[in-house]
Amino acid sequence: MIIAIDGPAASGKSTTARAIADHLGYIYLDTGAMYRTLALAALRYAEEGWDEPVAQVLKETEVDVAYAGDGEMRIFLDGEDVSEAIRQPEVGTMASRISARADIRDKMVALQREIGHAAEPGVVVDGRDIGTVVFPDAPVKVFLTADLEERARRRQQELQQKGQDASLPAVRREVEARDRADRERSVAPLRQADDAVVVDTTHLSVEEQVQAIVDLARNASNAA
Ligand code: CDP
Repeated sequence: MIIAIDGPAASGKSTTARAIADHLGYIYLDTGAMYRTLALAALRYAEEGWDEPVAQVLKETEVDVAYAGDGEMRIFLDGEDVSEAIRQPEVGTMASRISARADIRDKMVALQREIGHAAEPGVVVDGRDIGTVVFPDAPVKVFLTADLEERARRRQQELQQKGQDASLPAVRREVEARDRADRERSVAPLRQADDAVVVDTTHLSVEEQVQAIVDLARNASNAA
C-alpha cells in the first residue's frame, strides 16, 4: 500500500508521515531528502569551483536510501551518510532550485518508484508531486496544508530546536517564497491531485492528523 502525502513547506508532512509509518509498520520515504542530497552535492561542487554543478551532479552523484534497525530512513551521497548535513536551510533553498529541472526529477522519481514498489507491507511517501506524478495510482492521497502564519511558526520552532534563531517575518518570507517557486515551476509543480483528500492541520494536533490519515488508509485497505 502506498500512502502519498503532498503539501507546501512546513505543513507537517514529515512529522505526520513518519508517525503514520510507525503506526502501520510501513517505511517512510522522504523525497525532499533526495532533492536535498543532490542540492548538497551541487553546493559542494560549486564550492570547488565547478562551472556546471548541476551537470556534475547528474553524471557523478549517487543517492542511496537505507533503513536503520529502528526503521529510520538514512540517506547517502556517494556512500557518505548526509542525513543530518542536508537539513541546513541553504540546502533546502538549493533543493527548491535544483528540483525545478526535469533531468534532476527524472533521476529521483525513478529511485522513488523503485523503493515504493518494493516496500512491504507499505510505504508513506511525502513530497510535492507524489500523488500527481510519482504514484498517481496510490490508493491513499493526502494534501496536507495549514495557514501560512502557522507554517511559519512551526518552521521557526523547528529552527530554534536546532539552535538557529530567525525572526518570524523572515521565516514567513522564506516559506512563502519556497511555496511560490514550488507551485509556479513548469515541471511537476506543487498541486493537489484531483482525488486527494485535503487535511488542513492549522488547528489539528499531530495525533489528530495522524489518526485522520490512518483512518483513510484503513478504509482504503478494507475497500480493496
Ligand atoms: O523544507 P521542507 O521540509 O518543507 O522541504 P523538503 O520536503 O525537504 O523539500 C525541499 C524542496 O525539494 C522543496 O521545496 C521542493 O522544491 C523540492 N521537492 C520537490 O520538488 N519534490 C518532492 N517530491 C520533494 C521535494
